[in-house]
Amino acid sequence: MPRRASEENASAPIPEVRTYPALREAAAACRACPIGALATQTVFGEGPTEARVMLVGEQAGDHEDKEGRPFVGQAGRMLDRALEAAGIDRGTTYVTNVVKHFKWVAKGKRRLHQKPNAREIGACMPWLEAEIEVIRPEVIVALGSTAATALLGKEVRVTRDHGQLLATPRARHAVVTLHPSSILRMPTEEYRELALRDLVADLCQVAAALKGR
Ligand code: URA
Repeated sequence: MPRRASEENASAPIPEVRTYPALREAAAACRACPIGALATQTVFGEGPTEARVMLVGEQAGDHEDKEGRPFVGQAGRMLDRALEAAGIDRGTTYVTNVVKHFKWVAKGKRRLHQKPNAREIGACMPWLEAEIEVIRPEVIVALGSTAATALLGKEVRVTRDHGQLLATPRARHAVVTLHPSSILRMPTEEYRELALRDLVADLCQVAAALKGR
């Protein structure tokens, strides 16, 4: 049965001329899926256009939605800690998310994070593809399973494959690792420290891959 126009996913308004400023500006008006209407603003990726490493999270969180920048809340502070321990300067990396809007439901006065569904991820992917095309990173780091699946497919498992240099047509290497928010959700300080150690070890592989060139 043909779908009615109201059921179609609009497509992301990717500009013909692909430069970082043009992409960022066009993404600000994106309504390719319904979650844009709930968000304060589009949280586009940021970092130097010559970055050798692209870090990809799941989606903007509550803080990021308000500030308009990726990984600036608690998860961002955890990521900063791990990057510093691995000897990677965040200022040299390009940081972004698979989904550029914050998806949430209200619980009292709080806005609770909701996982993006496959349709929302599919609608937003053209932005990530365009960012990769413009930045041309040597290593793409998928933080958590949403980014790992979006970039590398369902066969990749963060628990099994983290820290390995994986093949991808999108860059010289892809690395999957834990999402910093998953570390924050661990039940005890001891678990958090162990998981942080894993994240740092995976990022050390990224640093080593960059040196090995
Ligand atoms: N979690 C993400 O995946 N991305 C952010 O920017 C913040 C939290």
